Amino acid sequence: MLKFGLTSATDYHGAKRSRWKRRVSWQLLRTPIPPSAADVTAFEGIVRGLQLSSGVFRTTFRGRFLTLDPHVNRILAELYSADAPLRVEDWAASDCLTSKEWAATLLTEFPHASLEASDLTLYLVEVIHNNESFIVEPGGQLLQSIRPPFVLNCHPPEPWFLPVNHLLMRASVRRWAAIRDTVGPLPDWSLGHCRGDCERPPFRLRQIPLIHPEAEALRRTTSTFTIRRHSVFEPAAVPCHVIRTMNIFNLSYFSPERLRDGIEAVFASLLPEGVWIVGRTLDDDGRLHTASILRKSGDCFQLLERTGSGSEIEALALSRGR
Ligand SMILES: C[S@@+](CC[C@H](N)C(=O)[O-])C[C@H]1O[C@@H](n2cnc3c(N)ncnc32)[C@H](O)[C@@H]1O
Repeated sequence: MLKFGLTSATDYHGAKRSRWKRRVSWQLLRTPIPPSAADVTAFEGIVRGLQLSSGVFRTTFRGRFLTLDPHVNRILAELYSADAPLRVEDWAASDCLTSKEWAATLLTEFPHASLEASDLTLYLVEVIHNNESFIVEPGGQLLQSIRPPFVLNCHPPEPWFLPVNHLLMRASVRRWAAIRDTVGPLPDWSLGHCRGDCERPPFRLRQIPLIHPEAEALRRTTSTFTIRRHSVFEPAAVPCHVIRTMNIFNLSYFSPERLRDGIEAVFASLLPEGVWIVGRTLDDDGRLHTASILRKSGDCFQLLERTGSGSEIEALALSRGR
């Protein structure tokens, strides 16, 4: 009939075995600085289930590319000298934890390299009004409404078989639609690390960062590791040597026409002879990847290597310019 929500870190940690019975508030992604080990574990557990309004999941996890990274680093070592000032970009990097893990080996093997992680969505916005919190994307799309003891998912919506949640969710969607214009344009917090609140009486706006605390810490301490907002359908501002796009250019997410736009964006972003790693992960342990490692050559891409059966868009990418 109904599901209550988990709105505090204490409840979340206490409800270890019964979490599936409750809705988890996206507010809990706002970890303290510095975070405890339990905060980090909670962040990783929660972010895995977050789905954006586009239908794309945020899913990523610690160690996801531990079998892929050495493979890619070896190919790069064959192509570039260790002192090359490589510019490497990891697109659609979600919370950037896997980028941070890649940086640990890449920046050791290529000490003059830099790694930029990017994603379209680096934070959510919590809009607090009366006794309700609306969790929205920076574009204003409503993901969740929190009215303790309820946490109501708005995208995807609460199902009919939980009628109380469903009816409360519909009421929240209506309330958000009614106040959306009055709240005004949401702040641009695209640097991701600003946690300041924003008072707009009668509303209060708070940021919910979606960057993993460890990636955030590396960004603060290492000038060669950066994070920025970027869409995989837009060319990079400055061409680079290597681009990784894992678990984003999937036929289940985008049409072939849209994927062609992505291929064009990668092509325009790579320097001549630049390398593109594209593919997807097949298992939950992150041991099995089916990826293609391509090289920009003239107007085309050439296949350097494959893991598994290669990317599902490999043929589309190889047809470019031919
Ligand atoms: C499944 S996660 C992949 C994360 C990471 N690359 C990995 O493989 O572990 C997909 C990510 O793509 C991001 N995303 C969706 N549309 C995007 C776009 N147009 N440009 C950049 N990122 C996008 C989402 O925010 C999400 O974090």
